[in-house]
Amino acid sequence: MKMWNKRCAASLLLVAVLGGLVSAPAAARGVSIKISCGAVGRELELCRESADAWAAQTGNQVQVVATPNDSSERLALYEQVLSSGSDKIDVFQVDVVWPGLLGSHFVDLEPYAHGAEAGMFTDFVASNAKGGRLVAMPWFINGGLLFYRKDLLAKYGLGVPATWDELGADARRIQGAERAAGNDKMWGYVWQGRAYEGLTCDAVEWIASFGGGAIVESDGRISIDNPRAASALRTAASWVGGISPAAVLNYAEEESRGVFQAGNAVFMRNWSYAWSLAQAPQSGIRGKVGVAVLPRAPGGAHAATLGGESLAVSKYSRNPAVAADLVMYMTSAAVQKQRAIAASFNPSLLALYQDPDVVKANPFMGELYGVFTHAVARPTVIAGTRYNQVSNEFWNTTHDVLSGRAKPEEALAQLSATLDRVSRGGKWN
Ligand code: GLC
Repeated sequence: MKMWNKRCAASLLLVAVLGGLVSAPAAARGVSIKISCGAVGRELELCRESADAWAAQTGNQVQVVATPNDSSERLALYEQVLSSGSDKIDVFQVDVVWPGLLGSHFVDLEPYAHGAEAGMFTDFVASNAKGGRLVAMPWFINGGLLFYRKDLLAKYGLGVPATWDELGADARRIQGAERAAGNDKMWGYVWQGRAYEGLTCDAVEWIASFGGGAIVESDGRISIDNPRAASALRTAASWVGGISPAAVLNYAEEESRGVFQAGNAVFMRNWSYAWSLAQAPQSGIRGKVGVAVLPRAPGGAHAATLGGESLAVSKYSRNPAVAADLVMYMTSAAVQKQRAIAASFNPSLLALYQDPDVVKANPFMGELYGVFTHAVARPTVIAGTRYNQVSNEFWNTTHDVLSGRAKPEEALAQLSATLDRVSRGGKWN
């Protein structure tokens, strides 16, 4: 009898495995996994939805841990948790610029990915590799975009601005006319001016679109002290208190979206997540928004900073295989498609940009595909573990210029000298 039971149980298990009812790592049912997700826009809600769906499918439990909106604060929190070797969080949502900083705390996901990364943006996959290990699975890609009010441009007979000068002139004109007509809350342009990683993203775009380089070039040369970079910062500083509220110096993504979605800005720089929120049934600007490439300087090229988020498994997790199963589920084509349609997260999987449902919900994903494939990377590869120090110095210098505390030329010369020290004379390692 006993013998029969064992045999019977074994063959039932075999049938279940062959029938796909039990996947290898998820066979450990009843395991509790903690996943930390971003909370910008609908990030947290969508993360919870798919994590719960995985839990229901696999018989495990999942707990979603919210993190601060500000990516620099999120990094500080992660550094604290990981440096203590804590097993409190199994799965981390990580920024595309962090694998160099945090990668040594994460497990190699290659054995769990079974080649899934081959269908993803190559640069994004490369940025998640550290020492030959795939330390995070690309989840969604970000590229800076210009959101504009179609209705207002049409009302004033204007096209979408191609240069920063045009944007400045259009913003001033519409802001002035709308205020004169009684909308005294109207602003021309909102963006991310707080001293944090988001400002690095915006300023990298301004400088690249002026032909002013990428702070540190891939050969290690510190290029930031140049006249084009200075012009870019001078232009941005001229917006503050004019077409942009002085409070923009404390705006992250969500503060800019708040102003734009309330109908109080003509233009906004943001990531793609802002699209589905602007188009939501309860949004006051539904149907009135267009998305375009960010402007450039005369003679410069349009530029978008490469952003994005991946999922990593902590090497301090007590259940790394089950945690990796959750990561592979969350980054699967089905979940990425669902997230793109529901909340306009740009998939990391290239094939989804040809998916008619995805493109119907997000026309810009088809039209502006090149923005994402040609996005400008921040200097993470060359700066390695010193990237956050470089970015910190850069955003503080930029913030000083924007707030009128420093002149662009002097500030950039000083930044260059500081980065020279940080890099030990441009050697970096
Ligand atoms: C988004 C991007 C990330 C960037 C951050 C800046 O989260 O995905 O790459 O660093 O915004 O705020």
